[in-house]
Amino acid sequence: MSAPADTSGHRVTAEIRNEAGRRRTFAVISHPDAGKSTLTEALALHAAAITSAGAVHGKGDRRGVTSDWMDMEQARGISITSAALRIDYDDRVLNLLDTPGHADFSEDTYRVLAAVDCAVMLLDSAKGLEPQTLKLFDVARNRNIPVITFVNKWDRPGREPLELLDEIEQRIGLRPTPLNWPVGIAGDFRGLIDRTRDNTYTRLHRTPGGATRALEQTLDHAAAAELEGPAWHQATEELDLLDEIGADFDEASFLAGRSSPVLFGAALPNFGVSHLLRTLIDLAPAPSARTDTTGAPRPVEAPFAGFVFKMQANMDKQHRDRMAFVRVCSGRFDRGMVLTHAATGRPFATKYTQAVFGSERHTVDTAYPGDVIALVNAQSLRVGDTLYDGPKVEFPPIPSFAPEHFAVARALDSGRYKQFRRGIAQLDSEGVVQVLVSDVRGEQAPVLAAVGPLQFDVVRHRMEHEFRAPVELAHLDYGLARRTDPDSAPVLHGLSGAEVLTRRSDNALLVLVHNKWRLKVIQRDHPTLLMEPLLAGGIEEQN
Ligand code: G4P
Repeated sequence: MSAPADTSGHRVTAEIRNEAGRRRTFAVISHPDAGKSTLTEALALHAAAITSAGAVHGKGDRRGVTSDWMDMEQARGISITSAALRIDYDDRVLNLLDTPGHADFSEDTYRVLAAVDCAVMLLDSAKGLEPQTLKLFDVARNRNIPVITFVNKWDRPGREPLELLDEIEQRIGLRPTPLNWPVGIAGDFRGLIDRTRDNTYTRLHRTPGGATRALEQTLDHAAAAELEGPAWHQATEELDLLDEIGADFDEASFLAGRSSPVLFGAALPNFGVSHLLRTLIDLAPAPSARTDTTGAPRPVEAPFAGFVFKMQANMDKQHRDRMAFVRVCSGRFDRGMVLTHAATGRPFATKYTQAVFGSERHTVDTAYPGDVIALVNAQSLRVGDTLYDGPKVEFPPIPSFAPEHFAVARALDSGRYKQFRRGIAQLDSEGVVQVLVSDVRGEQAPVLAAVGPLQFDVVRHRMEHEFRAPVELAHLDYGLARRTDPDSAPVLHGLSGAEVLTRRSDNALLVLVHNKWRLKVIQRDHPTLLMEPLLAGGIEEQN
């Protein structure tokens, strides 16, 4: 069947609109250790989606193993792949798409941001904006994703709140509009004043280990002044200052990515987390029309369409499988629908569709715009591919990012060359690495290109354990890639410190160069040769 039995009429349209309106699809962008896993747990806890903190991410001695699906990851205590988490709260559905939390960059992280409608920028109160936060923020900005800021770890010594706001404004040009304000300096956290509710003061009591909802007590201002003393007076003075400079929430500039509502809190003891939940519900945009390749907006109530933003193989050792994570953009998804794969025009059966909740998978029968569905056995799909029902629609591809690390791959056992080829092709189609080839190097020695070096560890591990074709990876001394054309390629290929290869996925001609100084020299000596920057997180690379 290609459509559910009751698609006709206004009822379904109204249902889809209503369901889309209930959804908030977002990701947390942060630097490792800012507290993303802790915040994820706290959000789920507050929403009563799980009974005690610790069931979402398998980290340290916390229970449960979810995205940490490879032995290698566990050994390193990081999660390379991501899962989607659904949180039901107050008649709303929050879909939290996990961005990998390690210090390394991979395309995966960026792609997740192609599939969300909002981002929570999580800062450590003692550290402020850190490198990976900045990089991810750039991607969010470039995609026009509205950003809510959560300043975490307020229970620990940190920086002044005004200083943190200033850093946000000065370094990334985002106007901070605090929704709440802390009473007590970082490390001596007393409570929060809610600027959105007549400066209501909520005093917070720590709960051991943060394993249950923090106890919150609302106090009137006179009682607060008496109890908190100088801390209260300082906070109210700062609030007056904020009022004077007009740092109030402004919907238009938030949605346009020019201002960011800021919340202070502490994820570990569950301080201020419920305010973040409410903010996501009240302020984050619901799914809206997505532009297709013709430039036409596809309304949420149009027939089903979605795109693959992530591929993941071998999540479950018991069942060797390959999953495509699809962000639903329009229509209602009903399990069993036969969709069309836009890239090939072939039908795609959806009998085995799942939703992933933490470590568990559930069969999903129905999904709406904003939801993420996982299609099992999706061998034919690639990242960026569109699936649709009814008349053809295709969404623009997710840009592939500028690789900065390159290595030649060779099969260690030449008797397993067939498996080697299959494995490399598979990793290319999943977007784990980009595969570059040239006549000079030959098919036996493709060049693998990655955004971060950790991607090579993934290749090594999967080639050995999944494809049974161990590889040797020889690092190449190139640091950047540029797009070129058939006229420029032969000249560039003859220059020292440069090499031209073809990207297998789209036949683009890329020239690899040692470093930006070498690039400058080549550009100066050969100004007519094409050396076009690739997209870095959707942003023109800067040199
Ligand atoms: P990540 O996913 O962003 O990498 O960070 P994660 O949640 O693992 O948090 C990093 C460390 O910061 C953890 O401590 C965590 O307990 C702590 N943390 C997170 N939020 C808060 C907070 O609001 N207040 C305080 N005081 N600490 C916070 P760890 O000792 O490295 O790990 P663990 O043994 O607790 O897992």
